[in-house]
Amino acid sequence: MQTEQKENSRLSWMTLTDTITSVDQGTDIIQGLTQAPKTLPCRYFYDDRGSELFEQICDLPEYYPTRTEQAILETYALEIAQMTGSCNLIELGSGSSRKTRLLLEAYSQFSQDLQYCPIDVSAGILKTTALDLLRQYPNLKLCGLAGTYEQALAQLPLAELENRMLIFLGSTLGNLDDQQCHKFFTQVQQALKPGEFFLLGVDLQKPIEIVTAAYNDSEGVTAAFNLNILQHLNQRFQGNFDLDKFAHLAFYNSLENQIEMHLKSLKTQTAVLENLDFEVSFQQGETIRTEISRKFHLPTLISTLEKHAFEPLQIWTDSQAWFGLLLCQRQCTTQECP
Ligand code: AVI
Repeated sequence: MQTEQKENSRLSWMTLTDTITSVDQGTDIIQGLTQAPKTLPCRYFYDDRGSELFEQICDLPEYYPTRTEQAILETYALEIAQMTGSCNLIELGSGSSRKTRLLLEAYSQFSQDLQYCPIDVSAGILKTTALDLLRQYPNLKLCGLAGTYEQALAQLPLAELENRMLIFLGSTLGNLDDQQCHKFFTQVQQALKPGEFFLLGVDLQKPIEIVTAAYNDSEGVTAAFNLNILQHLNQRFQGNFDLDKFAHLAFYNSLENQIEMHLKSLKTQTAVLENLDFEVSFQQGETIRTEISRKFHLPTLISTLEKHAFEPLQIWTDSQAWFGLLLCQRQCTTQECP
């Protein structure tokens, strides 16, 4: 962990670099684009432009997850704060922290000390948000971490207040497949001590038309977000993907209960990523799967959480049960508390 700068006494700033693995050299891109069907890791959506586009998606009328989760938090943030007591709040994939502000408001009613560690791969959005939050909350101590979830979970900040709560909102869990989800929960289980909290927001199964519309908005923002992944690769790895030769495609896979976003090649073509010394060819109509967004069945998710030593203490949903917010507590395993 490398401390980059100290903007003022309430802000510490770190870039998580010491556990950087091969993914940062782009080997995950080569791996994804050489397999059949082709895929790309969705973390490459989030350069600064991608993060901005995602913020715009969150405000789209068709994209229900953000406002639904926000409404749940508006109603229950105080109850969450009452249940956990004073806590260091640590958020994975914090982005603009727009929903977390509701938690900060709630916790500030109970405690003089507010401590928040936002963690995001996009250092740009992290910095802007951090400065904004410090202006808004005079009693907030903030520790921004720029890095991946894996890096962050391996070196979470220690509790300075009575307890810690790890926050993972926005149904970002849905962007992980089963195997990645299991690995993620195992890392969260290892990172948290018995008694600590895990607040998880997940998108639930619902009529297909509603889900499909959320990923095919009429303004084309989701399409721009999807295509931007190629722009990001071009810029980061000196590539020559021609964005006009790909089209956004998003559909619901009912077998897997997930939205799949793809980029469809509009012609037979070849692209190069010079910095990776890598060339990739596409047939006309061939796709790259850029994202899965799983829609959860609560009882199945609860049983997965329990297998990873997390007991859901309370589950809140909206009136249509479109979105779920789970406050879980890390339990002792038999090895830890014989
Ligand atoms: C970040 N993640 C939870 C979003 C989702 O809905 O899966 C990303 C997104 N992709 C298209 N629209 C939004």
